[in-house]
Amino acid sequence: MNYQNTLDFALSLDQQDALAHLRDEFIIPQHNGQDMIYLCGNSLGLQPKGTAGVIAQQLDNWSKYAVEGWFDGETPWMFYHKQLTNSLANIVGALPAEVVAMNTLTVNLHFLLVSFYKPNSKRYKIIMEGGAFPSDQYAVESQVRFHGYDPKDAIIEVFPRDGEDTLRTEDILQKINENASELALVLFGGINYYTGQFYDMEAITKAGHNAGAYVGFDLAHAAGNVPLNLHNWGVDFACWCSYKYINSSPGGISGAFIHQKHFDNTELNRFAGWWGYKEDKRFEMKPGFKPEDGAEGWQVSCAPVLLMAAHKAALNVFDKVGDMAPLREKSKMLTGYLEFLINTINQELGKQVFKIITPKNPDERGCQLSIICDNGKTIFDHLVKNGILGDWREPDVMRLSPVPLYNSFKDVYMAGKVLKEALK
Ligand SMILES: Cc1ncc(COP(=O)(O)O)c(C=O)c1O
Repeated sequence: MNYQNTLDFALSLDQQDALAHLRDEFIIPQHNGQDMIYLCGNSLGLQPKGTAGVIAQQLDNWSKYAVEGWFDGETPWMFYHKQLTNSLANIVGALPAEVVAMNTLTVNLHFLLVSFYKPNSKRYKIIMEGGAFPSDQYAVESQVRFHGYDPKDAIIEVFPRDGEDTLRTEDILQKINENASELALVLFGGINYYTGQFYDMEAITKAGHNAGAYVGFDLAHAAGNVPLNLHNWGVDFACWCSYKYINSSPGGISGAFIHQKHFDNTELNRFAGWWGYKEDKRFEMKPGFKPEDGAEGWQVSCAPVLLMAAHKAALNVFDKVGDMAPLREKSKMLTGYLEFLINTINQELGKQVFKIITPKNPDERGCQLSIICDNGKTIFDHLVKNGILGDWREPDVMRLSPVPLYNSFKDVYMAGKVLKEALK
């Protein structure tokens, strides 16, 4: 695409944008009486206008039915999660039976590690991306210790080469091959939170399986951001949060994927709870855990219905698009435009004032660009003062993420303009 650094050009792209109307589905925060330019969907997505109504409906059911709400009303809470399944399966490329909304992200990661990290004296190592999100690092370290191994020995991190910011797929695959005989698990992010790199999940899954290990992903930054194909890629398990690109409220409910091939595997451990018990027999209250079929058998506690209602409202917006493909197409154009504007500033100044550490190849990134520059925090603060909200990640990265559901090309143009002004 031949981008131009003018407001007219940005407005013309907005006019041609078949998804532009979706912005109206969201409440855009205000700054000095105008729409804020919100580029922070990588951290917390915006509130859909429908959210309050869907939650109010469940509050109403609670007031009308009280405890009977679990079985009465149009949307009995006992089955509420089932309304989310098809939309979620669509977003992550799974069979409906392979996904379930439950718990929160790190909690799901722990539960899935209970099932899929089964170390023995020969195979006990885990390969992760170096610099994974701290919660993942803590979860894995504690799981390794729980099984009696030393994290320093058992966790192998893959780092970028000297002078490079992101990982080469060949280096990830090589690390997996080199450690094949001792490997129990490969656990990667789908997209790295810091650099915005979208890993080749299919290649990683294949290499992990060839090495005889299970392969799982934390999709916090990938779900709702990039098209995924978990079932066909043969991924063993995955989990994600719903509060970033899926816009399902702060601390909103998480999602989990367990591949169909594991449904009948009785060798997998589970930390069980009553909500994972056979649904039609759950209230018989009998001893001896019998899991429900599919991913639902990994549920533990009863459903947090108000969080699920917020999730439902957000998934309704995804359902209006029906498919991740058009969102991805717009996303590539939006992020490509931001990249163009930043590169234009560098060209005009004759030096690389802003360094983008996110991969240049649009297929290797999602919405987010991670930017490093001198006095980065001052520049970031200038953006915030001018109504442009991204986020700052220590030690030195500014993350800006135009989201195709609610950001416009004008938003991106304005962000480029203010970034340039900030240098003064
Ligand atoms: C990649 C990644 N993993 C894990 C987490 C932690 O999520 P939670 O606090 O919902 O468990 C986050 C939070 O932003 C994240 O970005």
